[in-house]
Amino acid sequence: MLIHLICAARPNFMKIAPLYHALKDERWAQPMIVHTGQHYDLNMSDAFFEDLGLPQPDIHLGIGSGTHAEQTGNVMIAYEKILMEKAPDLVVVVGDVNSTAAATIAAVKLGIKVAHLEAGLRSFDRRMPEEINRLVTDVLADLLWTPSPDADQNLLREGVKPDKIKRVGNIMLDSLEMMRPKIEAQNTHQEFDLASGAFGVVTLHRPSNVDDEENLGSLCNTLQKLAAKLPLVFPAHPRTRKKLGMFGLLQKMQTCPNLIMPDPMPYIRFMSLVFQCKFVITDSGGIQEETSYIGVPCLTVRENTERPITITHGTNQLCRIGDLQTKAMDIINGSTSRPQPIELWDGNTAKRIIDCLKEQLNTSKQS
Ligand code: UD1
Repeated sequence: MLIHLICAARPNFMKIAPLYHALKDERWAQPMIVHTGQHYDLNMSDAFFEDLGLPQPDIHLGIGSGTHAEQTGNVMIAYEKILMEKAPDLVVVVGDVNSTAAATIAAVKLGIKVAHLEAGLRSFDRRMPEEINRLVTDVLADLLWTPSPDADQNLLREGVKPDKIKRVGNIMLDSLEMMRPKIEAQNTHQEFDLASGAFGVVTLHRPSNVDDEENLGSLCNTLQKLAAKLPLVFPAHPRTRKKLGMFGLLQKMQTCPNLIMPDPMPYIRFMSLVFQCKFVITDSGGIQEETSYIGVPCLTVRENTERPITITHGTNQLCRIGDLQTKAMDIINGSTSRPQPIELWDGNTAKRIIDCLKEQLNTSKQS
């Protein structure tokens, strides 16, 4: 079974890695990594391949940055050519980036089966490009591998046939468990002379937070005030760094005492910081899940989340920009949350996917 694993942007690499490693050990499976090139910097891409033990991609589409339509269209055009040369038996897409939807459209139009890993998540906010990508991908995919019961419910409500949906759990936590010994041995905080539990970690890159001058300005003000109480490490995404520069905020941030702004970090170095910190401020999707899993308080600077289980069962709180200082101070002053274990978030998601694929293979042999 020839299987393309599509990856494109930073949050994709930790989702394909466990699946690639599991498939590689199966005699019936021939996994191929297809990198669309949406993220291309060393820090945003190559370093993750190295950390996660992934080989060089079998196919690299070299798409790069662009507007949404450009990025989506360029992936469709380039990937269709690959599919027309030699069609795989299955295309696996992950997450919700532009390349996820683009690869799905290209494949299904050629009659090639698509499986979506991390299916069914919904923020119900169509201003987010990721929500559009999720809707498009899920309506077209043949197999929908979901992380949580809310995702199953969303798909059922949208009229997806129950036999297409399979709850497999959270694949990102497979990467976390696979890398845990290395993460725990890393101690990134010591590079910055920080004590364990005595700093916060910040990641911000959503257009709603960083592309708007007023929002980014007030986030920066709050972060500067918080840094006066507790050191903050803020590995800034290229989009964020660019916008900080455009709005004249970069120097103020870089020279603020106790506010450390390193380049984006590879997986193991970054996760080590998250393991050791007091709390996280983020607008990322995956970090809401990782913090919930390991029990680190997380403030998500967004109006909504497509991962509500991290609020009901985890350590996550949604937070408006105007409330960030108060909520962060509550955590600095000792407020804690006790997460509950989430079913199937256990490091065994790749195994469940392999079982699901074997079942599919047997069914198609019988028919
Ligand atoms: C993309 C995803 C987002 C995900 C995020 C993780 C979409 C719509 N968005 O957003 O869901 O959370 O990745 O990072 O797919 N850039 C570089 N080097 C790189 C990549 C990007 O400098 O390797 C810069 C470019 O200036 C680019 C900008 O960052 O224009 C934004 O990159 P893009 O891939 O368009 O979106 P992200 O904000 O990274």
